[in-house]
Amino acid sequence: MTSRKIIAIVGATGAQGGGLARAILADPGGGFAVRALTRHVQSDKARALAAAGAEVVSADLDDEASLHRAFQGAYGAYLVTNFWEHFSPDREKAQAAAMARAAKAAGLKHAIWSTLEDSRRFVPLADPRMPTLMGQYKVPHFDAKAEADQFFIDAGVPTTFLLTSFYWENLIHFGMGPKPGPDGALLWTMPLGTAKFPGIGVEDIGRCAYGVFKRGTELTGQYVGIAGEHLTGEEMAAAIGQALGQPVRYNAVTPAQFRGFGFPGAEDLGNMFQFNTEFADDFCRTRDLNASRALNPALQTFRQWLDANKANLPLT
Ligand SMILES: NC(=O)c1ccc[n+]([C@@H]2O[C@H](COP(=O)([O-])OP(=O)(O)OC[C@H]3O[C@@H](n4cnc5c(N)ncnc54)[C@H](OP(=O)(O)O)[C@@H]3O)[C@@H](O)[C@H]2O)c1
Repeated sequence: MTSRKIIAIVGATGAQGGGLARAILADPGGGFAVRALTRHVQSDKARALAAAGAEVVSADLDDEASLHRAFQGAYGAYLVTNFWEHFSPDREKAQAAAMARAAKAAGLKHAIWSTLEDSRRFVPLADPRMPTLMGQYKVPHFDAKAEADQFFIDAGVPTTFLLTSFYWENLIHFGMGPKPGPDGALLWTMPLGTAKFPGIGVEDIGRCAYGVFKRGTELTGQYVGIAGEHLTGEEMAAAIGQALGQPVRYNAVTPAQFRGFGFPGAEDLGNMFQFNTEFADDFCRTRDLNASRALNPALQTFRQWLDANKANLPLT
């Protein structure tokens, strides 16, 4: 039996949870141990976590009994859903509700729920500036997470509500990197207007979450927003260009144009960028850089992230 506090990590094989798992495993004297939850205990990522010292257990967010088993004996849990696997707000809410019930049943002392704002507090459904999606959302992958906050409150789980930011890794994995324009020069096409936009390297989300757990229960019941830097589209394109050593031009499309790009989730993301940029002051204020750095002194700026990751930008 370990005397260290076990953190059960949903999504440990993914971006957010993986960053937290690595942050804990990199600090063996920190008093915490990793229990990695995955549907695929034999996957390469699960095996790598086990090799690095994590306990790996089988659990599925669609199978509540598996969560009850996986949370038994844990001190805390990092809880995240993956909207982009199914595009269903109902399923995301059902998964969050199951996690809240299982966290309560296991008597967890501290849960971190990876949530986002309810865009409808800022842009009511009747507001025509952006389309209503699925009949009841403006930004489905934000609004569903925000609705799910109440499950943790109602269940009485001591929860920190972590408001994350746009991953800079979207430039690598989500098709959002710079691409050659008609003249061959690189264009970075984003609907950010001239607003400041909070972003973060995913490893830093995990390190910030570790910082939250290290504070004990100081931050339970609170919303904690995190970001690595607040930058305009123009500033981001310039930083990418400097890192690559070739010019990158910011191609500011409108949210409506972005919604029309037609890929799965384009409307949801177009609404998200419109909401994030039209309410940039609120969105950035909620994601304070000094508070993020206090949780995670290794917090990267965009330029630091670019220098470490520029070789992985597809550029095609
Ligand atoms: N991209 C962004 O800029 C951004 C910014 C803020 C928030 N987000 C939010 O981040 C969330 C995704 O998190 P991520 O990027 O860390 O995920 P990710 O890297 O895509 O990986 C998904 C993780 O979720 C786990 N998972 C998914 N469904 C599961 C289920 N039914 N049962 C158990 N585990 C399950 C997977 O585990 P196994 O496959 O091993 O079971 C995997 O570890 C999304 O909801 C998105 O809205 C994204």
